[in-house]
Amino acid sequence: MKTYPHLSSPIRLGSVEIKNRMFMAPMDTGFGNTSWGGFTPEGIEYFARRAEGGFGLIYSGGTNADCVVDGCDGILNHPAEFIEQGKRLNARMERYGAKMFIQLSMNVGRNGGLKTPSPVPTLGDPSVTTKALTLDEIHTKVEEMGRAAKLCKEAGFPGVDVHALHWGHLLDSFALGFMNHREDEYGGSLSNRLRICKEIVEVIKRECGRDYPVTIRLALKSYMKDYNKASFDGSEEVGRTPEEAVEIAKLLESYGYDGLSVDAGTLDAFYYAMPPSYVPAGFMLDMAAKVKAAISPCSAAGGRRTRI
Ligand SMILES: Cc1cc2nc3c(=O)[nH]c(=O)nc-3n(C[C@H](O)[C@H](O)[C@H](O)COP(=O)(O)O)c2cc1C
Repeated sequence: MKTYPHLSSPIRLGSVEIKNRMFMAPMDTGFGNTSWGGFTPEGIEYFARRAEGGFGLIYSGGTNADCVVDGCDGILNHPAEFIEQGKRLNARMERYGAKMFIQLSMNVGRNGGLKTPSPVPTLGDPSVTTKALTLDEIHTKVEEMGRAAKLCKEAGFPGVDVHALHWGHLLDSFALGFMNHREDEYGGSLSNRLRICKEIVEVIKRECGRDYPVTIRLALKSYMKDYNKASFDGSEEVGRTPEEAVEIAKLLESYGYDGLSVDAGTLDAFYYAMPPSYVPAGFMLDMAAKVKAAISPCSAAGGRRTRI
């Protein structure tokens, strides 16, 4: 039988101690949330039961931060209700010694036909091309992440997660060279393509204090042959390679992120993003181990199915 000697020991994410290494990955289940990302009484109970079950850290599902550029509803439109619900939820977390981070979403970009760094074919319908974000819109999105994180702190959440350099969502399409054709400071070199991630952690720390933990999600390999074409065996890759992921992880840590949660895939290669049972168990653990060796802390999800 395999043993996991560190699984029950505490770990720090910035200033916050998590009681063990069992983290519940972010899942927008469509259950227990209000239409704008708040928590219904059933949603609070759902997370409380997970805390009772023993998770040290629980991530919420993706929660809209920016309501301005993409014109959607989100927590910033309902601050008083969010604070009241958050306080009730965090009281339940405390009862079991668990911590909960809100995953703040930069939205899904081309996956929802929304604006992207530069015009690209929309997921599922290549005949429709997305519109590019203006510089003002990028700056607005970054500021809204800061305001949303501040609201999470006021609601008692001990940290936030930034959603995400994964699945071809908005931040992924900034970071992926083949999706980002901008010629200003947000395109070109890897550090330019990650500039928005740097600005996000800076604005959150400005609004919430340097000690407030901020993690970010990163897919370690895109598994894409082209737009809307998966690379099933992973040999052809127009997107992220595990080698580039290690470079990205180091840069994210240098920008001030307190931890990384890693997975794999894009919505074009959903097979790896949401691995069914016939994807080899633990297919991404070797990639995750390389990131873990370069930066710390790092949690991993995706086809783990480990039997203890
Ligand atoms: C119903 C469902 C909703 C999800 N929603 C999110 C989300 O909001 N944000 C996110 O980063 N990942 C989301 N994920 C991805 C999971 O966090 C996880 O990476 C994925 O399920 C692969 O891990 P697994 O093989 O252990 O299920 C979701 C997964 C599922 C099944």
